[in-house]
Amino acid sequence: MKLPPLKIGRFTAPVPLVQGGMSIRVSTSALAIPVADCGGIGTIGGSAIPIDELKADIRKAKAATKGIVAVNIMFAMKNFYELVMGSIDAGVDMIVTGAGFSRDIFKIGKETNTPIVSIVSSPAFAKLAEKLGAAAIVVEAKEAGGHLGTDIALRDLFPEIRKVVTKVPLIAAGGMTNGYEMAEMMDKYGADGIQIATRFVMTKECSVSDNFKQAMLNATKDDIKLIKSPVGLPGRALNTPFVQKLKHHESDLKAKECKYKCLKKCDHVYCISERLMAACDGDIEEGLFFSGENVFKLKDILTVREVFDQFVSQAESMYKEPTAVY
Ligand SMILES: Cc1cc2nc3c(=O)[nH]c(=O)nc-3n(C[C@H](O)[C@H](O)[C@H](O)COP(=O)(O)O)c2cc1C
Repeated sequence: MKLPPLKIGRFTAPVPLVQGGMSIRVSTSALAIPVADCGGIGTIGGSAIPIDELKADIRKAKAATKGIVAVNIMFAMKNFYELVMGSIDAGVDMIVTGAGFSRDIFKIGKETNTPIVSIVSSPAFAKLAEKLGAAAIVVEAKEAGGHLGTDIALRDLFPEIRKVVTKVPLIAAGGMTNGYEMAEMMDKYGADGIQIATRFVMTKECSVSDNFKQAMLNATKDDIKLIKSPVGLPGRALNTPFVQKLKHHESDLKAKECKYKCLKKCDHVYCISERLMAACDGDIEEGLFFSGENVFKLKDILTVREVFDQFVSQAESMYKEPTAVY
């Protein structure tokens, strides 16, 4: 059966598939444009890049596609407010926020007619986001890549949040690698759509270096680790030499100076911006390669169109309209 569209505020994505935002320069317009063209929501990772660069990238995406372009900005960023306002000024369709919780963002959303999508990992924050005016909510579970707000698995966490969110679309995120899981989350668990990210790093269009994609391709189940991030949250990443050093020689990794001053609060154990940029550039020794827990199930680099075709055909082969009352 055909999948339903995903409606967020005044926007309708014909395919209920959201590409998760990935900083720093992992999800740029190069990825967001084809995702939006395929009918999903393309998300530019907006944290820890210069505002002018972000604005130019949003404008580039908006000029290139008629689809939906979002930006993801972590609340933990020191210049969160400027990044949000800059993105709106550049014409982004919606703002997605996570890694902390901003109350003020909903006011900005209302004043500028910009839908705000909150990423949450608990029923309490989901309820609060809906009450304050979120246009949609992403439930991000422990299988996700990057910073994590929970150690609870998607199939345990999602039903708890489904019970308390009644008015706005609820999107499931974390660890999904095929369309069968998409259908499962939508008809069995009552998700209105899903968000995936790791699968999209492993596409031809993603602008990270080939080393990054190859490291994901080579990853086994044991190569995915939880790390400590200066953001103050755990993160999920590939077990590369830097992650091994972090475990045993934390004090040697302290950045000599704070070059980027990117976070509101940083414990300076190492420079997260520097390490994520190194990963983007393919530096296997020094980079920090965020990755979802189920990366080892992905065995190929596809085009964005191929990812969409695969997810949609698999999902539609088993999707039935949800009948349960959640
Ligand atoms: C390389 C990478 C970078 C990420 N960066 C961010 C980010 O900047 N902000 C954010 O909210 N989530 C970030 N995430 C989380 C994703 O947006 C997404 O919700 C999650 O990874 C979904 O799980 P999956 O990767 O297993 O599909 C990142 C994930 C990855 C893999």
